[in-house]
Amino acid sequence: MPKLRLKRGDILRLEGLLSLQVEEGRVLISGGLYEKGSKISIPKAKSLPLEAEEDAVVDYSLGEGGHIEHLSERTIPPEWDALIRDIVDKRPRLVMVMGNVDVGKTFFTTYVANTLLRHGIRAAAVDGDVGQADIGPPSTVGVGLFERPVGLLYEIPMLSAYFVGSMSPSGHMLEFIVGMARMVERGLREAEMVIVNTPGWIFGGPARSLQLHLVELLRPDIVVALQQDKELEHLLACIPQTNVRRIPTSKSVRPRSRDERAFLRELLLGRYFNNAGRMVLDLRRVRLERCYYRTGQPIDQRSLGIREPILHAEKLPEGLLVVVKRALSQDAIRELKKRFEQVKVIEAGSERYLLVGLVDKTNELLGLGIIERIDYSRERMTVITPVRDRDRIWAVQIGSMKVKPSGKEVGVLRPGSF
Ligand SMILES: Nc1ncnc2c1ncn2[C@@H]1O[C@H](COP(=O)(O)OP(=O)(O)OP(=O)(O)O)[C@@H](O)[C@H]1O
Ligand SMILES: [Mg+2]
Repeated sequence: MPKLRLKRGDILRLEGLLSLQVEEGRVLISGGLYEKGSKISIPKAKSLPLEAEEDAVVDYSLGEGGHIEHLSERTIPPEWDALIRDIVDKRPRLVMVMGNVDVGKTFFTTYVANTLLRHGIRAAAVDGDVGQADIGPPSTVGVGLFERPVGLLYEIPMLSAYFVGSMSPSGHMLEFIVGMARMVERGLREAEMVIVNTPGWIFGGPARSLQLHLVELLRPDIVVALQQDKELEHLLACIPQTNVRRIPTSKSVRPRSRDERAFLRELLLGRYFNNAGRMVLDLRRVRLERCYYRTGQPIDQRSLGIREPILHAEKLPEGLLVVVKRALSQDAIRELKKRFEQVKVIEAGSERYLLVGLVDKTNELLGLGIIERIDYSRERMTVITPVRDRDRIWAVQIGSMKVKPSGKEVGVLRPGSF
């Protein structure tokens, strides 16, 4: 293996694919301490800074796209260190990191938690990035524990995750908020400090509302505003200023394009379902959540007085829900609307590829699933899932996004239609 001989204070930028092993001395990678014998692998297209704490020798091997560059200055702005020193001294319970996309929120979270670990403080991180989730699979928010230093956030072990329903919080604000609250609660139970990484969705009415309500709900001790310029000021204007700490972004931030993000999402989701199997759930035993279907009183389809075949019918307080094999004629719908205020028509098969969350008795997420089909007459749902233990599944949370097991996104479900 080739070797790097580093002098105390040397700074490197490490780009994956790359693996390193410290042979002598101590280095900091993403703020985490790596000593003699420690190893790290950096995947393709990820880049991390290394700082030599003392003279050191590291062995390395480069893979595809791998690269090591000597830098003339630190990639960590001095304001970050001042803030982290404060955090180490004052030990707030909850720190929330706010920022636009691509400003280094995830890196900052990792850097802080790694640094805290060096001071003997065990932090948990809550990952509010739903699409590019580092903790838990895409479409969830998750919480994990920093037990040892890591280069990248996704390496920390997950404690719990919560299914949001899609790849973005925008159509699932309530699920997102509930999930974040639950993850923070869990983190606070297990760690001295929780660092919350929020989504980079900051402009426009709904985004403002989400961010500010998140602050109101979580009541963080510190809001870290990571900004390039003044792009967070419209939000900060509505937050008690005593809690806000503004810090600049690093010059080393590497932005990701829209395509790159979509590609990464697909890759992660595909990887998640890679070893998935098929499972049949009995809907008389397993509850459905976040949908209209099976929340009403069953009615005899013959009493509806229409000729077209109906697979399932139930009376909802809002009206009628029917599941049909083929779209109903306008006449039939008109007929039903005369008797029921609202008529919801589900075409059998439209549930295919719907992303769902599978939860246990205590409502804890066991994993994700993809609906393959529902047998509406026999009341059975077939899902593709990496979850193995069928007996632990107590409920299915219906999402709004359709994906294939390869990770490819193939459509969405209209809100309220299922
Ligand atoms: N201080 C820094 N030193 C070195 N590299 C950095 C620093 N800050 C960010 N980066 C790099 O910039 C890239 C983007 O950072 P990161 O993923 O943390 O941004 P983000 O705000 O979380 O983005 P997203 O909006 O996609 O969640 C990463 O490769 C990260 O390693
Ligand atoms: Mg991020």
